[in-house]
Amino acid sequence: MDARIAAGSLALLLAAAPALAQDASRVSLIDRPAPALDKLPKDAYGELVRYGYELSTRTFAFIGPEVQNRKMRFAGNNLACTSCHQNDATKPFAMPWVGVSATFPQYRAREDAISTVEERVNGCMERSMNGKPLPLDSHEMKAFAAYIHYVSRGVPIGARVEGAGTKPITVPNRRADLAAGEAVYGAKCAACHGADGQGQRRGKAGDAEGYVFPPLWGKDTFNNGAGMNRMLTAAAFIKHNMPQGTTHAAPVLSDDEAFDVAGYVLSQPRPIKAGLDKDFPARWNKPVDAAFPPYVDGASAEQHRYGPYPPLTELAKQRAEALKAAREAAASR
Ligand code: HEC
Ligand code: HEC
Repeated sequence: MDARIAAGSLALLLAAAPALAQDASRVSLIDRPAPALDKLPKDAYGELVRYGYELSTRTFAFIGPEVQNRKMRFAGNNLACTSCHQNDATKPFAMPWVGVSATFPQYRAREDAISTVEERVNGCMERSMNGKPLPLDSHEMKAFAAYIHYVSRGVPIGARVEGAGTKPITVPNRRADLAAGEAVYGAKCAACHGADGQGQRRGKAGDAEGYVFPPLWGKDTFNNGAGMNRMLTAAAFIKHNMPQGTTHAAPVLSDDEAFDVAGYVLSQPRPIKAGLDKDFPARWNKPVDAAFPPYVDGASAEQHRYGPYPPLTELAKQRAEALKAAREAAASR
């Protein structure tokens, strides 16, 4: 090899390195093309990813409560993962999985522990899907992990992902107005999800074919321990993704409407998860909108459930700062 060219390209590489490193730490999912499944190799990895895709988009048909094989009934409702994780779990601000393989393992307040992708999948299995955890060595768990891995390709480990999670609303400093929320629901949601919130099945009960429009409350939906059962998460999801077809770039509802309709939907009955008092063992970082006790700030369960939230957020901030100061004081002794 010509030594001068080698040295020259090395210098170029070094000059480019800091810029590269900076770019590498940020990835935007906005307008990023969704990974194409038809590019998958026809090998064992490709097959597993394809199964993961099927499982995610037609969860009810493989591990739902109506499947023939009783041993496979891991999910407790007939939703699909993609009932919430829209567009095959690639849509910005609809909790996309793109990049999840690069951002886990991560600290999770709910468990006060470092959690893996598999544990996160089971978090949604037990709450959003109101079901049982999948065994870590099951073909299904491996398929979920493989699909999440595939859609995460190109996102560097540790990257900050623009479009991840949900896009917060500006939270009104008041309690959710459930009557106003009911009016929004009737005008903007009931056409698909039904006046009774039960959605519209694809076929008939018992056929494991799931829903055209998923139910929002009642027996066949997420339980009260789910992320979607938290007011600020639900309001953020709804504002930037509903009615169906809505994106964060052109929301249909105002912040007030999203807040109130979330309050109305979450005020309706849904499955109850046992043992929720053990969530968030480090109580100080329990989110202000966690819909179940215990709470450490002395505010009522009612306020945690429906707001007003800004005063609770302020209290939580003060608590976190006091804790940090105490830790620093302890460390310097
Ligand atoms: C045009 C039909 C349509 C309308 C109108 C609509 N949705 Fe949806 N909604 C869907 C579909 C379909 C899904 C499943 C995800 C997907 O396929 O995009 C969904 C999913 C959801 C979910 C998550 C899944 C679940 O079962 O909990 C919530 C929450 C939700 N919608 C709330 C609302 C609210 C609140 C409104 C009114 C502001 C609304 N939707 C209006 C079609 C609709
Ligand atoms: C009822 C709605 C809903 C359904 C159905 C659902 N999830 Fe989720 N999921 C959420 C919400 C909301 C979050 C983020 C908020 C949180 O952490 O609680 C989330 C987060 C996740 C994450 C982490 C994403 C990130 O950016 O860190 C993964 C992975 C995940 N879900 C997997 C699944 C799988 C697999 C299924 C199906 C077996 C599923 N989810 C079904 C609502 C849902």
